[in-house]
Amino acid sequence: MKPDDILALKNEAEKELKAAGNAEELEAVRIKYLGRKGLLPEIMKGLKDLSPAERPLAGKYANEFKSACEGACKALLDLRRNALSVDQKADSFDPTLPGQWPAVGSIHPISRIIEEAVEIFSTLGFTIADGPDIETEYYNFDALNTPADHPARDSQDTFWLDKKMLLRTQTSPVQIRVMEKQKPPVRIIAPGRCYRRDTTDATHSANFHQIEGLYVDNNVSMADLKSDLTYFAHRMMGPGVSVRFRPHFFPFTEPSVEYDFSCHICAGKGCRVCKQSGWIEISGAGMVNPKVFEKVGYDPETVTGYAFGMGVERIAMIKFGIPDIRMLYENDVRFLKQLA
Ligand code: DAH
Repeated sequence: MKPDDILALKNEAEKELKAAGNAEELEAVRIKYLGRKGLLPEIMKGLKDLSPAERPLAGKYANEFKSACEGACKALLDLRRNALSVDQKADSFDPTLPGQWPAVGSIHPISRIIEEAVEIFSTLGFTIADGPDIETEYYNFDALNTPADHPARDSQDTFWLDKKMLLRTQTSPVQIRVMEKQKPPVRIIAPGRCYRRDTTDATHSANFHQIEGLYVDNNVSMADLKSDLTYFAHRMMGPGVSVRFRPHFFPFTEPSVEYDFSCHICAGKGCRVCKQSGWIEISGAGMVNPKVFEKVGYDPETVTGYAFGMGVERIAMIKFGIPDIRMLYENDVRFLKQLA
């Protein structure tokens, strides 16, 4: 092929390369010129047949032709590579990567104890009652037969909001609110927050939770109290737990008891958590004082009842082996995950 023909063909090829809009068209041009049976190999082969005068120019054009085509091939390669990376962005699913699990939350240990207690008492026919955290002096103390000079009323123990309003120190005022609205029989539990001016340490917190219970009917006795609370202990802690009732005093019950669970952590042998006694105090309880019935208009001659108020944090601590009450309020995810 004469040098001028080679030049003309090269210009045409360059036009075709420019016109190629996508990878397939570029590939077609490449095959046409650079392919094994393409035009360029043929031109190269023909160079030897040219006269020595024509050969150098023809060789120069042929080489320029070749590099122009090769440049276009590189462009083709880049095009393919880009297409590949665009594809990867569009659909980034790689089935060989380990899965990504969304972090799942868990029920807080305090809520778990409350939920379990509600479940257990519901099998005994108890329903849930509720009362306000901000209470009056009447519901928190007076109606519960707590005398005006009782030390619990002291500002050292109670968060007073003003002369008559306070943050409830116990869930017991819910008993009064329920009995005021409802005729006997009554069978309720009332879980909720309580507040006391306690200095925080490993076993005390200014804000804690209680579950109040109240059962009033014609023939409720201390035997019902003991059997129901023992049933509760076994369901909550497992059959290995022992329960004991100790005589105590509360203004709103007569007689009154405190009841303990055997220490779950040392199985009653004595440890730091149970202060070497083998027992953990869980709840106050007793037979509802007739004076409380009079306050709500119940006839103490026809009804009797038992009541209790148990500490939720206490149960959580021995059930889950938590050595410090503060851990329940710090919301450290590492701690909560262990109990999830
Ligand atoms: N309210 C008492 C307290 O916080 C606990 C308590 C004792 C509740 C005896 C009762 C009860 O209902 O009968 O210490």
